[in-house]
Amino acid sequence: MSSISRRLLLAASTAALLPGAASAPPAGSAPPRQRGGNEAGLHSRAVRKGLFYGTALESGALRGEPALMEHVPVECGMLVSEANFKWADLRPAPDKFSFERADMLTAYAARHNMRVRGHTLVWHEANPDWLEQTLTPQTGEKLLTEHIHVVAGHFRRRLAHWDVVNEPLKPEDNKPFGLRDSLWLRALGPRYLDIAFHACAAADPDALRVVNEFGIDYAIDWQERRRAALLTLLADLKARNVPVQAVGLQAHLDAAEPALDQTVLNRFVSDIAGLGMKVIVTELDVRDDRLPADIATRDAAVAAHARAWLEAVLVHPAVLGVLTWGLSDKGSWLNKKFPRPDGLPQRPLPLDAAMRRKPLWSALAAALDTAPARPGRG
Ligand code: XIL
Repeated sequence: MSSISRRLLLAASTAALLPGAASAPPAGSAPPRQRGGNEAGLHSRAVRKGLFYGTALESGALRGEPALMEHVPVECGMLVSEANFKWADLRPAPDKFSFERADMLTAYAARHNMRVRGHTLVWHEANPDWLEQTLTPQTGEKLLTEHIHVVAGHFRRRLAHWDVVNEPLKPEDNKPFGLRDSLWLRALGPRYLDIAFHACAAADPDALRVVNEFGIDYAIDWQERRRAALLTLLADLKARNVPVQAVGLQAHLDAAEPALDQTVLNRFVSDIAGLGMKVIVTELDVRDDRLPADIATRDAAVAAHARAWLEAVLVHPAVLGVLTWGLSDKGSWLNKKFPRPDGLPQRPLPLDAAMRRKPLWSALAAALDTAPARPGRG
């Protein structure tokens, strides 16, 4: 790893550093006549290395976004729903489960020979109001166990992974293990993780069980604390035979963040692997709201940043695959979450709003092409 132990200063000019980047059609060129153009899609490149590539998608896109849906099967081998597997979507009332949207997505994936990740069984967001009102130390364990048995049981043997617990950490809350002061922690204490992982293992033993987390990407203090907290938490869960099998690195990256340190990242992945756990890049996108307006400048910086991050992570055999949080810039959640001060849409994803492959697509292709091959499929 000595060649990548440099700290990267991520200006637009670093795009020139990309070794062996696959070529993308120039911005403004006509959309490909063949689906996806002549070059192999991202998933088929990933598969050559025993990895996978996929995207987040909403069931509404299946009918509502025909242009996007031409490209999804070309590029992807795995899907994850942005919202349809969260409590608020799945469980509008305590005694009512509504699986229609999640089932539509799962059926579409099956028809197209794509796998599906479940996201997510426990989170502090996207919960129905009734849950916040009903959840107490007395009701908590039954509610959580029941939810996981019904939901993971519904999809039994049909999902590749479950994000059993999403975003458990917030060290600033000063709770044990750096856990977030969430509704689940308040009701059940840290054992909510044990309950959730055991329930998921019982309801669907085949889906890989994941802790999914953000803010663990950069060599900056608050993220260093989160990495340390996550490793301590994982070691504790493992020591107590809580059946966690993998870590999801969300990888919501920021193209203007200079503290991308490949040595730190690589060591972190090694530390997770040292606990016997796998690693999945679950939600990659690259915000550009602190970059200038010029599209070529932004696209180059976004691509270089992602390439450097991926290069440090994909080198490790514990990594199973990569998903981006959307395939096309059209509809990225980042425009709501971090709107650019100039009002322009962000360009955080592999395809532009007209479904043309961008420099970020090329960076992903090159990172997958140069990743070491691993046995089996991710
Ligand atoms: C986001 C969705 O993209 C949005 O549409 C929704 O409003 C909020 O949730 N980390 C996660 C995802 O684990 O579930 C979040 O998805 C993005 C951050």
